[in-house]
Parts: sequence; C-alpha cells; structure tokens
Amino acid sequence: MAEQRTSIHGQWTNRTVFILAATGSAVGLGNIWKFPYIAGENGGGTFVLIYLLCIGLIGLPIMIAEIMLGRRGKQSPINTMKALARDEHRNPGWVWLGWMGVLAGFLILSYYSVIAGWAMSYIFRTAGGIFQGVTADGVNSIFTDLVSDPERLLAWHTIFMVMTMAVVARGVKNGIEKAVTYLMPLLFGLLIIIVIYAMTTGHFMEGIDFLFSPGEITGKAILIAMGHAFFTLSLGMGAIMVYGSYLSDEHSIVQASIMIALADTVVALLAGMAIFPIVFANGLEPGAGPGLIFQTLPIAFGHMQGGTLVGVVFFTLLVFAAWTSAISLIEPAVAYLVENLGYSRIYAAVTIGMLTWFVGLGTVFSFNVWKDKTLSIPYLFDNFTFFDTLDYLTANIMLPLGGLFIALFAAWVMRKESTREELATDPLMYNIWRFLVQFVTPLAVIVVFLKAVGAI
Ligand code: TRP
Repeated sequence: MAEQRTSIHGQWTNRTVFILAATGSAVGLGNIWKFPYIAGENGGGTFVLIYLLCIGLIGLPIMIAEIMLGRRGKQSPINTMKALARDEHRNPGWVWLGWMGVLAGFLILSYYSVIAGWAMSYIFRTAGGIFQGVTADGVNSIFTDLVSDPERLLAWHTIFMVMTMAVVARGVKNGIEKAVTYLMPLLFGLLIIIVIYAMTTGHFMEGIDFLFSPGEITGKAILIAMGHAFFTLSLGMGAIMVYGSYLSDEHSIVQASIMIALADTVVALLAGMAIFPIVFANGLEPGAGPGLIFQTLPIAFGHMQGGTLVGVVFFTLLVFAAWTSAISLIEPAVAYLVENLGYSRIYAAVTIGMLTWFVGLGTVFSFNVWKDKTLSIPYLFDNFTFFDTLDYLTANIMLPLGGLFIALFAAWVMRKESTREELATDPLMYNIWRFLVQFVTPLAVIVVFLKAVGAI
C-alpha cells in the first residue's frame, strides 16, 4: 500500500475540470496545424489509418498508465518516478524518465511557441481583410513574407512565451479552466463551419478520399504516424502525468482517458476534412509542409460569406488551443523547480520560460537566415533544419521512448495490486488495459522503431 500523498500544487475542482484541462493539453497545434501537413506529406489514407491504430492501441493505454502514475505519485514527473520506484522497492534510476520528459517538453515548447506566433499574426492579417478574394498564389506569398522575416517571428514568439509564463505562474487551474470550458466547444463549431465550406468547393470527396483511402507507406511514415499519436495526446513526457497528479483519488481514469482521446481525434479529423478539399479545389500541394494550414484556410476565409469574421475567430481560437497545450509542456519542469528548489511559481515559470524562449530562436531562424543550415543523420533523416530536427527528435524518438518506458513501468515494475487499486476499474477493462501495456504497446513501439531504421 502506498503512503497517502497530497499534491502541494493543489487539485482540480472536479473530474470535469481535469478532463477539460487534459483535453486542452491534447487539442492544440498538433491537431490543426501538424496533423494535416504530416498526413499530406506522407500520402494520406494509410498514414491516417496507422495514426488511428496508434491512438487506440498505443496512445490510449499509455494515457491511462501515465495519468495513473501521476495520480499515485502526486508530484512533478521527476519526483513521481522517484517516489513510485521507491514504493515498489525498485531501482531509483527510473527517475531519468522524469528528466527526459522535462527535456522533451522544453524542446517541444521552444518551437511550438514559434508556430503559435504564426497563428497570432494571422489573426491580424485576417482582420485587415488581406485575404478578401485572395488567390492560391496570394496566400502563398503572404505566408512566405511572414516566415522570411525573423524579427516579426521573434516578436510573436516572445508574446506567446510571455502569455504562457503568465498562466503557468498563476497555477494551472485558475488559468486553464475558463479557457477550455468556453473556447474549445467554439473551436469545434468553427471547424464544422469550415468543413461545410469545404463541402461547397466541389472537391470534398477528393479530400475525403485522400484522407481515408489506403495507399503505400514507408517505415519512416509509420514512425511519424506513431510519433504523432504521442504528440497529439500529449503523451510520453509527463504533461499528462503532472495533470494526473492534480486529480483526486475517487475519479475514473479509464473513462476520462477515453473521452480525451476521442475529442482529440475528432478535432484532428475535422481539421483534415476542412483542409484537403481546399487543397484540391485550388490546385495546391498536399505535401506543402508546415505552412499548409496557413496556405489553405485563408482561401476559405477570403471566399466565404462573413469569412473575415470566421477567420479572425478561428485563428484566435487556434491560439487559445495552443496556449492551453503550451502550459502543459512546461508544467512538469515548473512543478519540479517548486518542489526541489523551493522556487515560487512565478520565478520557476519565468526561469523555464526564458530558457525555452532562447532555444526557440533556432526555430525562428530555421525559416529564414538558417534555412540552408541543415543536418542529416544516417537512417533517420536528411537535410533537416533546426526546427525539423527538434520536431523529429522529440515527437518521433523522445515521446515514444518515454511512452514505452511508462508502459513498461506500469506493467512490469509496479505490482499488479498497485495498478489495480489505482485504476479501480471493472476487471474486464483492467485486464484489457494490462494486456495492452504489458505486451501490445511495448512491442508495437519497438517494431515501429526497428522498421523506421530499416532493420526489419
Ligand atoms: N498535444 C498538443 C498538441 O497536439 C501538444 C502538447 C502539449 C504536447 N503537451 C504535450 C505534445 C506533451 C507532447 C507532449 O498540439
């Protein structure tokens, strides 16, 4: 039996708030910016199918495990791993899993903030009416103008980091609750409006076909699909773990996890259904890369009734979605500084935030002055910019590795009584979950890794 712990950082008011906060973390740029462009770059249908499989067979079981570890440890991921290893009389070395998570979160946020900055700048562009009646070439050059200007990117990146620090400094709960309660449903509604517009382009079925008809796939694309399942559900680095640590003991983790994963997946699929018909209707390239949503959605806003308003609201909501995700990316590190170094929340948030801001400069320059400074790593990738490299290493390597070890810890290190007690779910659910984290999830992650480097 574990000692009874309480979190020094406070607790969510109720289960709904936890679900909202975790959904706020999960739903973000990953769903609306990243998912469509990587699906486009990796050929669509089969990629999407593998992503969905990864959500169900890998993501969901790991989410349950990660929330469970957090709630049992009730501290920052670093101290949670230390405490749980001690409870189970196991090797204290498991603490490195917490450290890797803190590092991954910090690296992800460094570029996440730059992209959120693009979305912020698009609120003002859209409001200025620049997209009225715009052509595909027009949106393209507006996007290129933005990303080739390091000063503008830097300004938005700075503003976004300040916004993130401000919420984290106040404590996660106060900041997040409202944002998610009202804004997420609104984002959902707007996505549906854009999907309806996409239906009027005459190329809707082409978009759907692209998203859902299977075709060829490479080992590397499978790795990207799996990495994205981790990224989009905020798994493998302790974000969901730290949110779990603020969850009170009486709530069901399994149910909550299913709801979070479902909401996240629906938002991603809606984004795909909004974007690809516009891509095909305007003769754009599905594999256009990170600029894809910025080069497609403005066409919709420039041509539909009330498009300027819809566009402004849409980009505003996208920024909010990114904001509620960004918060979860530094919370593990902030919680750690508060616990171990006795920092105030404000001081901890500012410290981590400034470091993140600094690393973010590399991403700012990746789209302009450092565009040609690229790196290749044999078996993994060729000619990647600083941004590409960070994104690849975090999403496709660190998160799946983190997730793999979370699954191994929950299934093989913790005693069965501990996990059964903590999950307190019906026996059938429990057994399915346990079978998945014991065998299916770890094997799947390992097989995908091996396939990606061409070893099988
Ligand atoms: N899931 C978020 C998105 O889809 C990003 C994110 C937030 C994240 N916290 C995370 C990704 C933790 C990985 C790990 O935009």
